[in-house]
Amino acid sequence: MRLAVIHDTRKPDLPSRELLEAIKNKGLTPVFLRISGLSTSIDRHGKVTVFYGKHKLTEVDGAIVRSIGATTSVEQYVRRLTLLRELEREGTVVMNPVDGMIKARDKYGALSSLSKAGLRVPETLVTEDIGLAYDFAVKFGKAVIKPLIGSRGYGSVLVDNPEIAFRIFKTLASFNQVIYVQEYVEKRSYDLRVFVVDGGVLASIQRFITKPGEWRTNVAQGGKAKAYNPPEEVKEMAIKACEVLGLWYAGVDIAETDEKGYVIFEVNAAPDWQGLAEATGARPAEAITEALVKRCKR
Ligand SMILES: Nc1ncnc2c1ncn2[C@@H]1O[C@H](COP(=O)(O)OP(=O)(O)O)[C@@H](O)[C@H]1O
Ligand SMILES: [Mg+2]
Repeated sequence: MRLAVIHDTRKPDLPSRELLEAIKNKGLTPVFLRISGLSTSIDRHGKVTVFYGKHKLTEVDGAIVRSIGATTSVEQYVRRLTLLRELEREGTVVMNPVDGMIKARDKYGALSSLSKAGLRVPETLVTEDIGLAYDFAVKFGKAVIKPLIGSRGYGSVLVDNPEIAFRIFKTLASFNQVIYVQEYVEKRSYDLRVFVVDGGVLASIQRFITKPGEWRTNVAQGGKAKAYNPPEEVKEMAIKACEVLGLWYAGVDIAETDEKGYVIFEVNAAPDWQGLAEATGARPAEAITEALVKRCKR
């Protein structure tokens, strides 16, 4: 069985390397594929061919998609998703499934689906209307402005002054960027990262803020991970969130609040796991590979 790891960089990053290693350790054949190097064509008989570089890509039973590119143009984004769909249609089991990946990547869309399924999320607005965004910032006093598509805490800003928020909204709008803004959730000095694989919780951590003035808990922003066994309620929330979005594995970010109980910030369809693995001893790469193999055998 050949299993691929798909990423946008030339060389595999650490999670990708661990996945390749896990695939090899299972006695299977690992392949690293750079997403920009994959192409698809339709011939005169309507037959679809997937290429890697100039060669036909054949017999890839499953693929774990770690990244479809951090800074893509709209056309690249559309093409890359279509490419993954072609792989799916041609019989490769793609993990996470493309539909789930798309749903999770749009952070507002994902929260809306979670909220409809009865899971609590922050009050959130997505708009291109500066006035509406300003009213939202005034209403909440403290608001978080985030990239609609983003990760590791980068580019998220906490504002407690509506006039500063207004300047940010105006700047975003002038660059044709959408405005994605949330109420600031009064969480504790930590939040929870629940790592779900195949409908179960593999491991969880509390992520503590360590830098003065910091409000984000991401490990990439200095957050410190501590192993944690969350209450059943939290585990169920995280598992349900993955079900709702159609994800076979994910990192679910959850705040613990006094006022509102547990609140989901986001669901990561290709989460990093180094901090979590070090703190808990969990081996996400093995678990993810196993979940994929199981589905390839169906
Ligand atoms: N609305 C919010 N209120 C309070 N803290 C937040 C809020 N949104 C995000 N955070 C903090 O910032 C971190 C990063 O935000 P998140 O939505 O998970 O985006 P990213 O994809 O960048 O990780 C969260 O883990 C949390 O600690
Ligand atoms: Mg996050």
